[in-house]
Amino acid sequence: MLRDEVFARPGVGSSDFNFSREVSEVFEDMLDRSVPFYREIVRMVAEMAKTFYLPGSVFYDLGSSTGNVLEAFSQVMGDSPFEYAGIDNSPAMIEKSRGRDFGLKVGQSARFLEKDILDCHYSDASVIFAGFTFQFVRPMLRTPLVEKLFDALKPGGVLILAEKVLEEDSLFSRLFVEYYYDFKRRNGYSDLEISQKRESLENVLIPYRLDENRELLRKAGFSRQSVFFKWYNFSGILAIKEDG
Ligand SMILES: C[S@@+](CC[C@H](N)C(=O)[O-])C[C@H]1O[C@@H](n2cnc3c(N)ncnc32)[C@H](O)[C@@H]1O
Repeated sequence: MLRDEVFARPGVGSSDFNFSREVSEVFEDMLDRSVPFYREIVRMVAEMAKTFYLPGSVFYDLGSSTGNVLEAFSQVMGDSPFEYAGIDNSPAMIEKSRGRDFGLKVGQSARFLEKDILDCHYSDASVIFAGFTFQFVRPMLRTPLVEKLFDALKPGGVLILAEKVLEEDSLFSRLFVEYYYDFKRRNGYSDLEISQKRESLENVLIPYRLDENRELLRKAGFSRQSVFFKWYNFSGILAIKEDG
């Protein structure tokens, strides 16, 4: 696994972050050192996806990056059939995911589409996962996207959303971000790397508060929700489209 040193060179923080080839090459290390409990979140997503996946339906993975969710999902599904569609608009990420061998069994299909999640047509879905991807979508476009996803889900299907979040109280928001930067320091990132990445993400990654994300889902029709993960400024929501 290549070490993430994307923000180690002085001056690189001034351009907007994007999921470039350079980022895709070190992405596994970036995830492990920058997302608290990343592997556990992916494992939980796969476990929940298995529970709610309906035979003959599609599991959509929005912002599928290198395909880690498919790897975890195929492991928990064993020999059971499924159809998975990963979507990502980064050519480098799509290339990485397509280059992996997921050891799929007979009756299991997976495709990775190089597309913007805003431009896709979704149908026959029972599970939709958006992992740290909505935060890169312009806020005004999130509402129509969630409405489209709600319509694409079969009754009993789920939307699983993982996002970086802000707190309602600005004191907690500030503290939680400080604790998060301490986490990154413990994982070997320098102060320069942390500040340059923050600068680079400033106009690109726009987090909602947890209650704003819950309201976004509720307004689209997801009346039944639970927060399955929370670590300071990181969160996960499981939302069900109820029968009838
Ligand atoms: C933080 S990464 C996602 C990590 C991944 N979900 C996982 O669990 O390993 C965000 C991904 O979303 C993709 N992305 C961001 N905005 C997108 C959009 N509008 N359409 C498609 N993909 C997008 C990026 O290219 C990137 O690969």
